[in-house]
Amino acid sequence: MPAAGDAPPAQPSTGPAPPGRTVVLVGLMGVGKSCIGRRLATRLGLPFRDADAEIERAAGCSIEVIFELHGEAAFREGESRVIRRLLAGAPHVLATGGGAFMDPHTRAAIAERAVSVWLRADLELMLKRTGRRNNRPLLKRGNPRDILAGLMAQRYPVYAAADLVVDSADGPPEVTVERVLAALQGPPAPSDAPARVEGAGA
Ligand code: S3P
Repeated sequence: MPAAGDAPPAQPSTGPAPPGRTVVLVGLMGVGKSCIGRRLATRLGLPFRDADAEIERAAGCSIEVIFELHGEAAFREGESRVIRRLLAGAPHVLATGGGAFMDPHTRAAIAERAVSVWLRADLELMLKRTGRRNNRPLLKRGNPRDILAGLMAQRYPVYAAADLVVDSADGPPEVTVERVLAALQGPPAPSDAPARVEGAGA
């Protein structure tokens, strides 16, 4: 047992204490869920999981191949199963694929076991980021700008059910990570508010 005055156990580099629940990042393709999630996990001292990578591992092939061979419905079933399995485990940071939060069962499981953060970005930023790789089957169905705009219209009202919303910055990922950490900490408790100076004002 540590003696009084011993140094406290090492904490993750900086930032708030882990929230005690899994932190699930949701949002459209290209907002940076995996990139931010990995860094966020380091800051929180939690493991990181990427739902898309887990689905690929479970299926033994890429998401593109799953879509091609089995279709989107089969992918969605696998996605929901994998996410519910991950949520049943110890707290971690989980980056989900852009469509995952649209499934009501997945959404309910996330609400029950995790804190959800909608990472939001504008269309231009998502286009820029998704344009770097050509591995997203949905974006091959037509003009990526039109597809992303359509998905924004369809999905944003549902993403809005997330516990927290954070705008993804077009800059160093650390900027967005800081925003997520601040959002997880929540607004300062009333006791943290600056003390009122007696006699100042009414
Ligand atoms: C999808 C997003 C992708 C991947 C799949 C479908 C979607 O994940 O799950 O291609 O429906 O928005 P990212 O959001 O990580 O690109």
